[in-house]
Amino acid sequence: MHATLDLAERISRISESSTMKVAAEADRLRREGIDVVDFGAGEPDFPTPDNVKRAAFDAITQNFTKYTAAGGVPELKQAICDRHKEDYGTAYSPKECIVTVGGKHAIFNLMQALIEPGDEVVIPVPYWVTYKDVVNYAGAACVFVDTDEAEGFQLRAAMVERHVTSRTKMVIINSPSNPSGAVFARAELEKIAQLAKDRGFWILTDECYHRFLYSGEPYSMATYPGIKDNLVIAGTLSKTYAMTGWRIGFALAPTQVIDGINKLQSHSTSNPTSIAQKAAIEALRGPQDSVGTMLAEYRKRRDFVVARLRQIPGVRINEPQGAFYAYPNISCAFSGGIANALQFSEKLLAEEYVAVVPGEAFGTREHVRLSYATSMHELERGLDRMHKFIAARQSCSRGA
Ligand SMILES: Cc1ncc(COP(=O)(O)O)c(C=O)c1O
Repeated sequence: MHATLDLAERISRISESSTMKVAAEADRLRREGIDVVDFGAGEPDFPTPDNVKRAAFDAITQNFTKYTAAGGVPELKQAICDRHKEDYGTAYSPKECIVTVGGKHAIFNLMQALIEPGDEVVIPVPYWVTYKDVVNYAGAACVFVDTDEAEGFQLRAAMVERHVTSRTKMVIINSPSNPSGAVFARAELEKIAQLAKDRGFWILTDECYHRFLYSGEPYSMATYPGIKDNLVIAGTLSKTYAMTGWRIGFALAPTQVIDGINKLQSHSTSNPTSIAQKAAIEALRGPQDSVGTMLAEYRKRRDFVVARLRQIPGVRINEPQGAFYAYPNISCAFSGGIANALQFSEKLLAEEYVAVVPGEAFGTREHVRLSYATSMHELERGLDRMHKFIAARQSCSRGA
């Protein structure tokens, strides 16, 4: 007798990551020999720093190639806590830290440890794709909070408060934001922290882009007095140290939460790769200048992308304050066979071979996301093509 091919119900609650889908389609076209410009991937185009690579070679040479503790080696946990302290002035200890297989894994495990069916999770829009699916997978309900493009997609505490109910279990904060590049005002984040304490919900702060800020001081919500019992942090080395393929992330959270995640990891992934853990220690403890070098380059690219997008008739763009994404409003192009960002992206890829991610993936219909973690040369070529594509649509030139 054949096994039934009906997949578990929880799998039907999630869909494949749209950013990964775009990457796969751009890849397919490239393999056909087509000259695609790819603005889809949220991945630094810089190599992993040499000192980090050397640490991995050393780990192999020294046979550091066996299982480690499921939650990572103590030395790496300490390095994560020390770096966090140095960057933001926080005070975490290794028992409040766990090493994960990338930042996504930290987010997934934090949700699995904390969220239950019937819970509500508040998610500001536009949001990073994965949050919604991970909440759905946990059987909880997403409660979306719209932000306003005209206000630079800023999140204010009052907006969050309007959506908090007795079932609110968690509020997700991602600042700098993927996809909008918005950096939320510190005063508002502090008010949200106070709200969490007053109303008894968790804040999950995703610090993926914390080191990529174009102005102002680095800030972690963990410095808000008395917040640590209501706060969980998801972090990653992927973007900060151009280490996307190494798969090292972490969670900082109260000990009970970390213990829960440790149990989960002990039965699922076991330890993150031993070699990558050694590389991560070097990334966190070694020279930090590569981060500044990348940030300076991203700033140049941001200025270029914003200036070029503003030259395209009918396109609106808020200047990103952090991360490496631009999120222009391309709704002027909604005419003659294009009714939304998804169709815009499909046509742009099919006709001009430029890959962008449609706003639908992030909860809005009038925007597309361009990653500028790619070379100036590619940015020039892609933006030329996008300009041509949009300017050819009468609906855009009329509004210009
Ligand atoms: C907002 C945000 N959080 C977390 C991640 C996770 O990164 P990784 O799993 O590669 O460490 C990403 C990656 O794109 C991201 O954009």
